[in-house]
This record gives sequence, C-alpha cells and structure tokens, in this order.
Amino acid sequence: MEKLDMLYEGKAKKVFKTADENLFIVEYKDDATAFNGIKKGSIIGKGVINNKMTNIVFKYLEENGVETHLVEELSDRATLVKKVSIVPLEVIIRNVAAGSFSKKFGVEEGTALLNPILEFSYKNDELGDPMINDMQILAIGLAKKEELISISEQALRINELLKAYFIEKGIKLIDFKIEFGRCGDKIILADEVSPDTCRLWDVETNEKLDKDRFRRDLGGVEEAYEEVWRRITSK
Ligand code: TMP
Repeated sequence: MEKLDMLYEGKAKKVFKTADENLFIVEYKDDATAFNGIKKGSIIGKGVINNKMTNIVFKYLEENGVETHLVEELSDRATLVKKVSIVPLEVIIRNVAAGSFSKKFGVEEGTALLNPILEFSYKNDELGDPMINDMQILAIGLAKKEELISISEQALRINELLKAYFIEKGIKLIDFKIEFGRCGDKIILADEVSPDTCRLWDVETNEKLDKDRFRRDLGGVEEAYEEVWRRITSK
C-alpha cells in the first residue's frame, strides 16, 4: 500500500490517504515538542522506536481483546491503520502522581495513588488542551454518553494490561495518554503508545525512561528511548 495525499501533519506524525478509502498510513517523525509546541527539538531515532513500539503494544492489546486501529507495519516509520475519526479527547490515566497532576494538587511526584485516575483533556491546541470533565464533554457534544462510557471502560482495562506488560520489562507505568477514534459504530484505540505518551520509570531506580527527559532537559533522551526499546524487544 502506498502513500497518496497527505491529510494532516501533527507535531510527531503525518497521516496520508491510501488507494483504499478505509485505510490511512501514519508516518512517525523524529520531531519533538513540549508545552503545546513552545519547546521544539528532535529526538534522533524516536520515530522508528515509537512506530515499532506502538505496533508491538497494540498487538499485545489486541491479543487481550482491545480493538485498535492497527492493520500492518509497512516500514520502520510507517504503519497502515484503519481510518478513524479521532474523538477530540486526550484520555489520561495515572497510577502514580507526576507532571501536571503533582503541580495542580501539590502531591509529590512519585507518590502512589490510592486508585487509578482517569482524566480528560480537550484536544484543542488553540485552547492549550484544557482539562475537561464528563459533563462538560457531554454538554458541548465532544462525545456521546455511550461513547464516553466505552472510552472510560477501555482506558481502565488498557491501564491494567499495560501495567502488567511494562512491569515484566522492569518498567513502572506512572501515567499515559491515549486517544480513541470512531470507526463505523465502534470506538477503537488509535494514535500511539510510546515514551512520548507514557511516563515510564525504571522499577528499581525510578530513572525516567520517557519524554520527560526532553521536556525537562535531563539529557540522555535518545538513550532512554533506546533503553525502553531494548527492554521491550529482549525477552
Ligand atoms: P501531564 O502530567 O503533563 O498532564 O501528562 C500526563 C501524561 O500524558 C504523561 O504520560 C504525558 C502524556 N502527555 C501526552 O502524551 N501529550 C501531551 O500533550 C501531554 C501534555 C501529556
């Protein structure tokens, strides 16, 4: 399957049409941004790792009953996916306090949470992706009630599956962001699961193995992505 017209270029990926109107090609870039695009840079090799890692993780989720947009990996950076219409929500799950949650609520980073937290942000760059709650989502029509229930149930199930997956690799899943798309009458997992979209800490040392190294200028950014890739691909 070949790329036709580019439909959309985001901060980290491009999306292309294909000859099949039901399929798109997603191409991952090395470009990295943070703080709604204010900080810009690149992480060499990130596009390849994020593409391949997302596909491995999506296959694992599929094997465990979660439907995703994945069709087939085409190359190091490109994947054939089902055409979906993205629900404009960043679905965030937290197991341990970190990032914006720690800042907002004054809870020290690294504090275990008594229950997983499900949060939503409205995907809207102009507004800076503001946090939004269920009733606000329904009130402005970003999703229907049944869709929101499906998204919430799937997200919590995905969290359990991903926690178990990463702990086997010596990685603690602190938090992550996922996105869902409408495909026919279903809501399926789309976008990516990668060190760009997850906080991943070494289980022994709490070393950060994710994009926070870029966001916070901690150094060793490429090495962190490579370490996650190494752990995922070694048994
Ligand atoms: P936060 O603590 O900054 O709200 O981030 C929560 C999780 O969401 C974290 O794993 C990083 C991820 N994330 C994204 O994937 N994209 C984003 O634009 C932001 C702000 C966070």
